Amino acid sequence: MCGIFGYLGHQQALPILVEGLRRLEYRGYDSIGVAVDDGETIQTHKTVGKVSDLKSILPASIDGTLGIAHTRWATHGGVTQANAHPHASENGTVHLVHNGIIENFQQLRKSLSKRGVECKSETDSEVLAHMMALELEKGAEPLDAVLSTLRRLRGTWGLCIMFKELDMLVCARNGSPLIIGQGEGETFVSSDPHPLTAHTQRVVYLEDGDVAVIHRGSFNITSMKGHSVEPNITVLDEAWGEAELGDAPHYMYKEIHEQPDALRQCIAGRVDREMGTGRLGGMGLDHSTLIQAPHVRLLGCGTAAYAAQIGQMLIEKMGRIPAVTHISSEFRNNDTVINPKAIYLAVSQSGETADTISAIKEIKLKGGQVFGVVNVVGSTIARLCGKGVYIHSGPEQSVASTKAFTNMVAALTIFATQLGRTRHLSKDEGRELMQALQQTPHLMETYLEDIGPIDEAVSLLCEANSVLFLGRGLSATVAKEGALKLMELAYIPCLAYPAGEMKHGPIALLEEGSPVVVIAPNDHLKEKTMSALHEVKARGAKVILIHEQGDAIASEGDVSIAVPAVHPALTPLLTVLPLQLMAYYTAVRLGRDVDRPRNLAKSVTVE
Ligand code: M6R
Repeated sequence: MCGIFGYLGHQQALPILVEGLRRLEYRGYDSIGVAVDDGETIQTHKTVGKVSDLKSILPASIDGTLGIAHTRWATHGGVTQANAHPHASENGTVHLVHNGIIENFQQLRKSLSKRGVECKSETDSEVLAHMMALELEKGAEPLDAVLSTLRRLRGTWGLCIMFKELDMLVCARNGSPLIIGQGEGETFVSSDPHPLTAHTQRVVYLEDGDVAVIHRGSFNITSMKGHSVEPNITVLDEAWGEAELGDAPHYMYKEIHEQPDALRQCIAGRVDREMGTGRLGGMGLDHSTLIQAPHVRLLGCGTAAYAAQIGQMLIEKMGRIPAVTHISSEFRNNDTVINPKAIYLAVSQSGETADTISAIKEIKLKGGQVFGVVNVVGSTIARLCGKGVYIHSGPEQSVASTKAFTNMVAALTIFATQLGRTRHLSKDEGRELMQALQQTPHLMETYLEDIGPIDEAVSLLCEANSVLFLGRGLSATVAKEGALKLMELAYIPCLAYPAGEMKHGPIALLEEGSPVVVIAPNDHLKEKTMSALHEVKARGAKVILIHEQGDAIASEGDVSIAVPAVHPALTPLLTVLPLQLMAYYTAVRLGRDVDRPRNLAKSVTVE
C-alpha cells in the first residue's frame, strides 16, 4: 500500500528518489518523505501530503548519491508528519522506510521503553530503527543488526535501511514486495517494478525471508538464517515503463480509453477460431485435468472479485460444473474445504493483494493448485501460483480499476470456453463466442467515440444522497462494479442489487427523484429486469438505463445510454463502460481526486 524507493549509485540521489516517489504515488499517498546521505549527515525531509507537497519543502538540491524514500498509506497512527517515513533511531545511525505491519510492535515498544528509548511516532515501523541501532551499539555489523531485529518480529515487511557513514543499503522482504534494479555502477530498490523501468530492465524480485546488502552496482542476498541466496534476474517488459499520463486529464480517463487496445492484447493468440476454443498456454492444463475437475473456485477482492463472479457464471454456463467466487479476505478464515482436484483461480490486477495472497497460501497448504489471473508480471501472486494467465492490460495507475476489469473478464471468458469445449459446449457455440470476443475491442471503440448522454446521468448522480444499481445475471455483477466505482470515486453511498431482489428490501430507499441505474442488455433476463425498472419508476425514481443500441426499451429510461449490441455472454465488457464513465465524470464534477480517492490505495498489501 505504501511505496518504497531507494538509490545507491553515481548520480545525485534526490531527483531519482523524488521521481521514483512520483511513479509510486498511486500506491499510497497520505504522507511522504525522503532521506539522503550528504556525506556528513543524513538529511530527512517529510510531510503530510503528496509528492508535490514534498517538493515544496525540499531544498533545491542535496549533494548525495545514497538515499531512501517512502509514500505512506497509514495503518498505525494518524496522517502526521511524525508518522511519515523515513524513521530514524535516536542517535541517527539507522534510517529506514517500511511497508507492511509489525504485529508485535507494542511489545517491542515497551521493551525499548524499559531501556530508555522512546518512540517519536505512533507507527509500528519506528521501533525497527531503534532495535537495529541498539544492535549496532553492541558491535554488530549492519547485516547482523538487521537479521537479529527481523528474527524478533511478527508481521510483514518490505524494508529499506540506510546507516550513517556507511556506503550501503540493506533491504528485506517478508510479505511486502521489494525489487532490486541493477544498473551500471548503481542499484535501485523499489516496491513496484514500473518505477524501475526508467533506469534498468534487469531486476531481482526478493522472496519472503530474503535480506539484501546493496553496494554501488552490486548486491548480495542472504536468507534470514544468514545463508547465501542465488539472485534470480528477471528482465522487465519495457511496456511497463510507458505509464505516463501524456495529454489525458487523469489516469482513469486514459485507462478507460485504453480498454479496446488492452483487450486486443489480452486475447491475442489465445483464441482458436478453428476449434471454437481458447488457448491459455500459461495455465498448462491438459484436457483430462479439465474434464476431471469437480468444480472451480475463484478468489479476488473488489473489482477483481466482481470479474471473478462474471467468470464463475460463464464457467457454470459453458463448463457445466459448479463454480463459486470467494472474497479473499473471508476465504482464509472460513476454513473452506479444499479438493486438490478442483481448479482454483486467483484474480488480481496488482498481484500483491495481501488477502488474496493469504487465501492462495491456504489452498496450497491443503494440496490445491492455484492459477493466477494477474496483470502485473512477476508480482507476488503470479510467482506464488507459478501458472496462470497474464491479462496484459499494461500498467494501471488509477486507483479505480477499469482496464484490468475488462481484461480479467475476457481472460476468464476464454478459460470458460476452453473448459466448456472439453465438456458440453459445441464447436459452433465456441466459435460464435470466440469470434464475438475478437470483435469486442472494435465495439468498445465505437461506444467510446460516442458515449451518449453521460452528462445528463452525471447531473442526476451529483445531486444524489445514494444510488441504487440493478441488473440480473451477468448484469447483476456489472451493477456491483458500477456501484463500487461511483462510491470509491465520488464518495456517494451506492447499493447494488440483483433486480429481482430489489423488492425484498432496497425499494424502501426510493423516493421522488432517487437515481437508479438499471443495466438491461438484450439477454434472456431483460424482460424481468424491465419489471424492476417499472417498479422503481412507479415510486418516482429517475432511471438511468444502460441498454443495447436499437432496443425499443430506450424510451423507458429518464436517461438512456446505448452500448453496441454484443453476444449475450460478453455484455459486461460493453455495459461496464458507461458505468466507469459515469463514475469518472461525477467525480470530476464534484471536484474529487479522481486518480487518488481519499483513504484508498492501489495495491492493498496489508490484510
Ligand atoms: O490488485 P487487485 O486486483 O487484487 O485489487 C483488488 C481491489 O483492491 C481493487 O479491485 C479495488 O477494489 C479497486 N479500487 C476497485 O476499483
